Amino acid sequence: MLEMRQVSKVYRTELVETHALRALDLHVRDGEFVAVTGPSGSGKTTFLNIAGLLETFTGGEYLLDGEDVRGLSDDARSRLRNRKIGFIFQSFNLIPDLNLFDNCDVPLRYRGMNAAERRQRIEQALSQVGLGSRMKHYPSELSGGQQQRAAIARALAGSPRLLLADEPTGNLDSQMARGVMELLEEINEQGTTIVMVTHDPELAARAQRNVHIVDGMATDLSVEPTLLRVASASLAESNG
Ligand SMILES: Nc1ncnc2c1ncn2[C@@H]1O[C@H](COP(=O)(O)OP(=O)(O)OP(=O)(O)O)[C@@H](O)[C@H]1O
Ligand SMILES: [Mg+2]
Repeated sequence: MLEMRQVSKVYRTELVETHALRALDLHVRDGEFVAVTGPSGSGKTTFLNIAGLLETFTGGEYLLDGEDVRGLSDDARSRLRNRKIGFIFQSFNLIPDLNLFDNCDVPLRYRGMNAAERRQRIEQALSQVGLGSRMKHYPSELSGGQQQRAAIARALAGSPRLLLADEPTGNLDSQMARGVMELLEEINEQGTTIVMVTHDPELAARAQRNVHIVDGMATDLSVEPTLLRVASASLAESNG
């Protein structure tokens, strides 16, 4: 589903160069649920944004669903993203002036789907996340957990092959976080590949596989117990 080899990302300003990713190797197979952990500033969001074609990369190779995405035009990348990828953010990113139905409708309209298909997809997605009776509600009328579920519905309505989540439970209390995690597990069981960045060790432990990013490089924690010790040692170090 997702294959990155030696991917690097350098942010350059006039004064500084930041190496956000350094030779990152990361593979995610079809149908997996992978949790990504790592210290603040280690490159997790950068990785996710590159994986989701929101950002380009400086070096290396990235195959999404077997397709080499390096060198695609902005337009081609947007189309690919819209067709294959769903995003969930820590801050939900719902549009405050639109009700839940219309929030879910935005990316589908962009895809040029007809009204009947859009309606059917949106109703199904909002029902799946338990918000079928709230379609006319505005984001401000919902709890944090409900807003995040609405954001998940918006992603689901597009039937993404790959769901990318950047700390989806970061703004939720532990009970709402568990509810969102259960929903993601259900979505994964139905066949969607999920990559989730999280700071919550309890949630990370529930994923099938954990990848740890430290200083822009990835370590697969399920492969090798010694690597796990190395990763946790460097985590302890970077946490001071
Ligand atoms: N647009 C940008 N311009 C310059 N530097 C950036 C930019 N975005 C990220 N960085 C830098 O790249 C590095 C990795 O950032 P990133 O946001 O990927 O970290 P993260 O692991 O998601 O951290 P956190 O857990 O705090 O969200 C950091 O040093 C950050 O300052
Ligand atoms: Mg981040």
